[in-house]
Amino acid sequence: FQKEKKVLHEAHDYSAKLYHYLLRNTEVAKPALDYLLSRGFNDALIEQFGIGYAPARWDTLTQALERKGYALAEMEAGGLLSRRQESDGYVDRFRDRIIFPIHDSNGQIIAFAGRMLSDGQPKYLNSPETVLFNKSRTLYRLHEARPAIRRARQVVLFEGYVDVIKAWFAGVHNGVATMGTALTGEHAAMLKRFADEVILCYDGDDAGQAAAHKSIPLLEEAGFRVRVSVLPNRMDPDEYISSYGQEPFVREFIEGAVSAVKFQLIYLRKSHILLEEDGRIRYLRDAVRIVARRDSPTERELLLKELANEFGVSLDTLKQESLEFRQQEKL
Ligand code: UTP
Ligand code: MN
Ligand code: MN
Ligand code: MN
Ligand code: MN
Repeated sequence: FQKEKKVLHEAHDYSAKLYHYLLRNTEVAKPALDYLLSRGFNDALIEQFGIGYAPARWDTLTQALERKGYALAEMEAGGLLSRRQESDGYVDRFRDRIIFPIHDSNGQIIAFAGRMLSDGQPKYLNSPETVLFNKSRTLYRLHEARPAIRRARQVVLFEGYVDVIKAWFAGVHNGVATMGTALTGEHAAMLKRFADEVILCYDGDDAGQAAAHKSIPLLEEAGFRVRVSVLPNRMDPDEYISSYGQEPFVREFIEGAVSAVKFQLIYLRKSHILLEEDGRIRYLRDAVRIVARRDSPTERELLLKELANEFGVSLDTLKQESLEFRQQEKL
């Protein structure tokens, strides 16, 4: 088992070097390089993040691994190759894709994510789960972000690989991302050793906002203070940075991330029609319920004051309602 892992580690290292070399040095990689440049990548980023290119042929990596003496069946089990469909043998798993290496927390490459150059599906092909790669225990770039996370006792969670890379370039060095899967309790437990605060910087679209909404209780139960960035116009961090620049991104959405409860109140608005009295009453009741769950009496009072002002009701009424919720839920 240990031997199998060691061989796969080496094979991943070798594959990453090959993909990177091909991106840097071959004519077939020209469209991939142009694509990366068009998305604001430069040589330094391509180097630093070890980005590569898997050519469109079926056997680039297969042949290279075979020449190196690797057992192809083991390479298939390790997620680097696929079984041939019609006959015996193996073919490259990643073809005509930009390759992002994925490391474990020790900095060892354990998987790849491959992005299409066009708009097809799936947009990203990730390695399957293997003896090396467990998605619910892997966070993209944790090995590089860990010193900054420790220093700030804070981690920024992104949805996308490119978001992590662009945010790093903008000076946010404590950013990581999940593997296109939901955040798990295992992720939270890993991060809790280094950080006390999480900033959720997910995409501004409905899916991203819903994912942030779901992650809040999970992170709070793990003991984190949570803040959330709400990006405008359904943009993701990469798109925001490309449109408006690095400095506004950091100022508005990292430094300016709102508290978890503020986010929950913003999120709640989407499902209520505030132009109608009925909708306002229901919104206020749900909002007070969210506020009532906060532990700090000061926080509760400040939030209730804001709601009272906004909706033209008295603070006393909202306090009364909040107390009733707390008694009902035995808080
Ligand atoms: P997004 O659809 O938001 O992609 O998925 P993105 O990161 O903005 O990608 P770009 O900017 O178009 O290149 C967010 C994340 O979900 C996972 C990936 O981890 C991606 O970064 N994902 C998405 C997949 O694993 N497979 C997919 O087909 C799509
Ligand atoms: Mn290089
Ligand atoms: Mn998304
Ligand atoms: Mn996105
Ligand atoms: Mn994106």
